Amino acid sequence: MKIKISHDSKLSWSGDALALSFFTDKVELNPELTQLDQNLDNTINELITETEFTGKSGETIITRVGGKNSLRKIILVGLGKEEDLTLDSFRQAGGNIARIAKQNNIKTLAIAINHHNYEDDILAQVISEGIILALHEDKRFKSEQKTSKITLDSIELLDLPASNTAIETAEKITSGVILARELVNAPANEINPITMAKTVEKIATEYGLELTILEQADCEKLGMGAFLGVALASDLPPKFIHLIYKPEGIAKRKLAIIGKGLTFDSGGLNLKISGSGIETMKMDMGGAAATFGAAKAIAQLKPNVEVHFISAVTENMISGKAMHPGDILTASNGKTIEINNTDAEGRLTLADALVYADKLGVDAMVDLATLTGACIVALGNDIAGLWTTNTPLATQLTTSAQIAGEKFWQMPLEDKYFDQLKSPIADMKNTGSRAGGSITAALFLQQFVKNTPWAHLDIAGPVWAEKPTAIDNEGGTGFAVRTLVNWILSN
Ligand code: BES
Ligand code: MN
Ligand code: ZN
Repeated sequence: MKIKISHDSKLSWSGDALALSFFTDKVELNPELTQLDQNLDNTINELITETEFTGKSGETIITRVGGKNSLRKIILVGLGKEEDLTLDSFRQAGGNIARIAKQNNIKTLAIAINHHNYEDDILAQVISEGIILALHEDKRFKSEQKTSKITLDSIELLDLPASNTAIETAEKITSGVILARELVNAPANEINPITMAKTVEKIATEYGLELTILEQADCEKLGMGAFLGVALASDLPPKFIHLIYKPEGIAKRKLAIIGKGLTFDSGGLNLKISGSGIETMKMDMGGAAATFGAAKAIAQLKPNVEVHFISAVTENMISGKAMHPGDILTASNGKTIEINNTDAEGRLTLADALVYADKLGVDAMVDLATLTGACIVALGNDIAGLWTTNTPLATQLTTSAQIAGEKFWQMPLEDKYFDQLKSPIADMKNTGSRAGGSITAALFLQQFVKNTPWAHLDIAGPVWAEKPTAIDNEGGTGFAVRTLVNWILSN
């Protein structure tokens, strides 16, 4: 499938389908569309009336154009209310159009969308992102590759005199989103600490990035007792992955991204019981997946920023070697942790990863993690939590997320709640009570940050989609890759 900028007019374009967009309750034909409608024997007007098309967000209609027209089908797509319009409306429109075109065996498609509120390049970029992400289906684990004979092979953007770079940018960013989706979708017997490290090695080789992988012995030397405590019961060696992108010139800024990388979370001896989602805990490396997805995109976009991509990768398993509830672990900053719940393992792996990243001397660092069910209770499946005490960083991330069409909500780092983590025997416990569970998790992480402006993102809900949306299909969403990329580019 190839997306192209085309300077053809709607009136003369020929191919399988032409997609037109409308705002809710403003489904009117301007003079150019009226002309097109006349050429098409009133098909558009009849379609609008017969289907009672109102232009609601996500509404898509398709019809055959009769006669000897060189244009065979018309697609109408709703953009939602004009006053609610955001950049993401166009990303979703791209996704919705691509979906209906694919369902209808369209081979050559044209999309005529523009809007004076936004620049041509950013519009072409987000529409392309929507198209590519909606069309991506993960069929790697199906024995029969059901490929239809007819595939959507050409999509032309009309009325949008953007540069080809805009489309290339979309391709680079979505290649990172798709990598993150595939990492999340891959089961724990496919993506484990070893294969995760191999995947990152491939990225490093392909794009010429620096890579350091700390093996268990290296982590022991650094005193990473929290990370290694989690790794105890796994038969597979833990891998502490540190991938570095360096620009050619002198970097304007240095950043670090740290992703939770639990390739499986059984809960440990506090075993997850049925109903607690153990079946989907292959996705507990969604933070690491987004981290390395962002790395893949950044390696191609080549911004003038140095970025460190980090994950302490292991699985949380059970065996005679497992850490026991009540064990006391010492993290690499010397702090001691009483384990009152082995299922709060993500924060333990992140603790040592944060201590490590904090020593790199970067200007800011962001961790992201499928950290708590409590965050899903608080914000639902579509919104991620954001914690930071650094206002400029909060603003940067929020703006980046808006452009990305990803939802975050800032949550409080309520110091008082740290009382829940007080331990009579160690510096802290790893778990508080049910109340405010995503906040105490963030407060726990804060204990391992000393020098660097830091933000924590809890992405437990949005990493996984139960059903398709405009641009996501069921399964891994690649959530946060686009936000991270925008954040890096904005630095
Ligand atoms: N990986 C889970 C969090 C999670 C839950 C992610 C549901 C996605 C969907 C995490 O390691 C965990 O088990 N957290 C516990 C913390 C509790 C023991 C304090 C939780 O949320 O129940
Ligand atoms: Mn857990
Ligand atoms: Zn977990």
